[in-house]
Amino acid sequence: KKTVKIGLFGFGCVGQGLYDILQNNTENTGFEAQILKICVKNKEKKREIDASYFTFDKDEILNNSEINLVVELISDAEEAYQIVKKALLSGKNVVTANKKMLALHLEELVRIQKETGTSLLYEAAVCGSIPIIRTLAEYYDNEFLYSVSGIFNGSSNYILSKISNENLSYDVALKQAQKLGFAEADPTLDVAGFDATYKLCLLATQAYGIFINPDEVLRIGINNLKKEDIDFAKNYSVKKENDQNTTNFKVKLVASISRIKSSENNQVLLYVLPVFVDAENPLYNVENENNAVLVEAAFSDKQTFIGKGAGGHPTGSAVLSDISALRFDYQYEYRKTDRNKEKNALGQTLISPTQ
Ligand code: HSE
Repeated sequence: KKTVKIGLFGFGCVGQGLYDILQNNTENTGFEAQILKICVKNKEKKREIDASYFTFDKDEILNNSEINLVVELISDAEEAYQIVKKALLSGKNVVTANKKMLALHLEELVRIQKETGTSLLYEAAVCGSIPIIRTLAEYYDNEFLYSVSGIFNGSSNYILSKISNENLSYDVALKQAQKLGFAEADPTLDVAGFDATYKLCLLATQAYGIFINPDEVLRIGINNLKKEDIDFAKNYSVKKENDQNTTNFKVKLVASISRIKSSENNQVLLYVLPVFVDAENPLYNVENENNAVLVEAAFSDKQTFIGKGAGGHPTGSAVLSDISALRFDYQYEYRKTDRNKEKNALGQTLISPTQ
């Protein structure tokens, strides 16, 4: 059995979820994973597990030659970038869930990964337990992708669901999302659409081979929505064509990258926006912290992936899956595309991938 010796950075919601999974996972197949050290910041905090696990010095992990995998689960993107870069350069594999850090630095980190022959895996960075990164990297290898879209932020979806279904106020719903560990340390990242944008950029790389600066994506979050907007969607009913039934709507924070069908040079369009969805849309029934990814491709047609997008165990399970993939020295394949970009009148970035 291959033994993975882990240096873990961060012991928050996901770090503890992973620890818990590794302790209780009796279905262990083909590999053994041991956490040797956990690097944390706060010296005062009481923690459930033995103090000998913990260090406050990054180099105690990064310079430890016994550790062959760094699992990075902290929230500070700049610090995470320094850790991940150093780990890859010193020949260690890296598993990370840090979507902001990846969205800002993926191109460079992928290059370092290639140069050092290490693996950089990040299934947990996008949509928690939904295996969308690896699916995009492998499954649609020879397919033409029309679009990848969906609900990528569990906290925003949780808040919208609670306002719509239980009449909670925005503030109470946000507090609950924070208490349950779904929200980022700075919840503005969730409600202003940044988190969904980072994830969209990562999916764009996996789907089209393009590295996009998150600032280039049109982004509107749920933080300026009013309860009246959500109620309006709920109470607004329209008759469907050739059908006696009516449908109402729900507001969902939708992230999307899609080919512009009419476009001559195959441009793709990216946005994160609150959108009215009707009952026929697969996103309509995606509630609370669930996420969904809709993929539309030339031959496989439309597919919907739904699952828990946040929380210690669901996100920890994606980390575990990456750790497990490392026993095959797994690396993602990236599609190669050109990067001809322009903006349309709405400020939306248009990119022309040539596959
Ligand atoms: N804050 C994120 C969310 C956590 O609410 O979806 C998972 O990335």
